[in-house]
Amino acid sequence: MKNTPIDKNLIDDVIKEFHISDFSKATIREVKEIASRAEAESGVEFIKMEMGVPGLPPSKIGVEAEIKALRNNIASLYPNINGLSDLKEEASRFIKAFINVDLKPEGCVPVTGSMQGTFASFLTCSQCDEKKDTILFIDPGFPVQKQQLVVMGQKYITFDVYEFRGAKLKDKLESYLKNGNISAIIYSNPNNPSWICLKEEELRTIGELATKYDVVVLEDLAYFAMDFRKDLSQPFKPPYQPTVAHYTDYYVLLISGSKAFSYAGQRIGVSCISDKLYQRSYPGLTKRYGGGTFGTVFIHRILYALSSGTSHSAQYAMAAMLKAANDGKYNFLNEVRVYGKRAEKLKKIFLNHGFHLVYDKDLDEPIADGFYFTIGYPGMSSGELAKELMYYGVSAISLETTGSNQQGLRACTSFIQDHQYTELEKRMKIFEENHPRI
Ligand SMILES: Cc1ncc(COP(=O)(O)O)c(C=O)c1O
Repeated sequence: MKNTPIDKNLIDDVIKEFHISDFSKATIREVKEIASRAEAESGVEFIKMEMGVPGLPPSKIGVEAEIKALRNNIASLYPNINGLSDLKEEASRFIKAFINVDLKPEGCVPVTGSMQGTFASFLTCSQCDEKKDTILFIDPGFPVQKQQLVVMGQKYITFDVYEFRGAKLKDKLESYLKNGNISAIIYSNPNNPSWICLKEEELRTIGELATKYDVVVLEDLAYFAMDFRKDLSQPFKPPYQPTVAHYTDYYVLLISGSKAFSYAGQRIGVSCISDKLYQRSYPGLTKRYGGGTFGTVFIHRILYALSSGTSHSAQYAMAAMLKAANDGKYNFLNEVRVYGKRAEKLKKIFLNHGFHLVYDKDLDEPIADGFYFTIGYPGMSSGELAKELMYYGVSAISLETTGSNQQGLRACTSFIQDHQYTELEKRMKIFEENHPRI
């Protein structure tokens, strides 16, 4: 290997210090740490693509509303456990405006980020029926959600959707659901890490099978409307963010302030429980809590026990951002479209130098340019490629950590700076020379 931007021995030594024998299993935090150490020791700037953190300023509308609320002394008061009524109203309107689904404000519950929304949803779903003790992941997915289940001691099962898109999804899903032990199905759409977007026919399959087997669908919309192939930014006008909500009555939509509104630091999201699910009582919940419905247990038992509600001022921020978007006064997607532009440029560079996209299509349509994309290199495993790219000052995470069976890496566009494209081009040219394809 010649002319690598960073001395191979330096990287190998840093990796050794972290005691990582298989780089395909390195976590995001480990890759980040190794990259920072190597950067400091070599003096060569890393092109950092491992973290999925928003790289843009927060929505001004949110910040202003939050400051105003704080000046009005709301910090001293416990927030209403059900959520601020303005936020509940605006979340319900938002769902109508951008998804074209009717969901009552009652079911729109603020949470400290979607992370808490999934934690509370996993717990509630797992307690409904004692025979249903397993969560099904349509992977690849967000690794921390599995960590949540490990923390709470719940079982999960997963499959990589790569081989099961379109018509193939039905039999695959049914092979799990027919066992009768699945309480909920979870997936993100657009997907972290692959940026695939499930098509209407796939959402229909998920919804219909969920109804048939009486399973709750947890639809993680952390990257709400960020499929930039279509303009999903106009309130109350099609096209809308696709959703399983059109195909089943029992679901939770997890909406996050973190990515679409660049508001990750304040830990705010809204878990939106469908009307029928909110009202439904389950034998397992009645036995454990002496009564209650899915919605009331979720709020008054589980969220109450977890954090007694969500930061008061952040709820004002989220309410203001959603209201401005609903009123057509704030095109939140315009602020984040830059991620798609970055992905387009980055993909071009990698593809020009022998890489391929791992998850490349939504059935017959090329995937969108967005927050993430996935790359592979012929003949290289995920671990080899992740480690090898470190010698070129490029950091990304192995797909193995996301429940994918494919060989490759997840690259995130959020920290890319304008001056880094030419540098990446130079480095990938050397990479290609050092790794001739057969
Ligand atoms: C798929 C997915 N779900 C949830 C989250 C977390 O969202 P929040 O910041 O609202 O907790 C992320 C963040 O990276 C994500 O990628």
